[in-house]
Amino acid sequence: MTYVIAAPCIDVLDRACVDECPVDCIYEGERSLYIQPDECVDCGACEPVCPVEAIYYEDDLPGPFQLFLADNARFFDQPLPGRSAAIGSPGGAGRLGVVGADTDLVASHPHAVS
Ligand code: F3S
Ligand code: F3S
Repeated sequence: MTYVIAAPCIDVLDRACVDECPVDCIYEGERSLYIQPDECVDCGACEPVCPVEAIYYEDDLPGPFQLFLADNARFFDQPLPGRSAAIGSPGGAGRLGVVGADTDLVASHPHAVS
């Protein structure tokens, strides 16, 4: 089981969640952050600090956000644009640094109208 970052994070990237995570399993793409599902220990510390309520326990994802469960996993399991290999399980987001790429779902998400 894992926590999941869903659509409200896109283009917000508040990063308060990163400071709370005891295992550093929240990784930064370009337009969103993603939780590594194999590294998340389900502590729940990230969920209440997100100002836009982007983080959910996987069983509690509202219907429209349920596709983000597989999508957070996809960020790590499949090569992202510009990368030849999948990220996998690096064992710490700080070690990897900012990835600077997104899944197709996040990359194709409409930009907010300003
Ligand atoms: Fe995104 Fe919320 Fe974290 S906006 S970066 S999930 S605190
Ligand atoms: Fe997972 Fe969030 Fe804790 S990503 S390890 S539930 S801080």
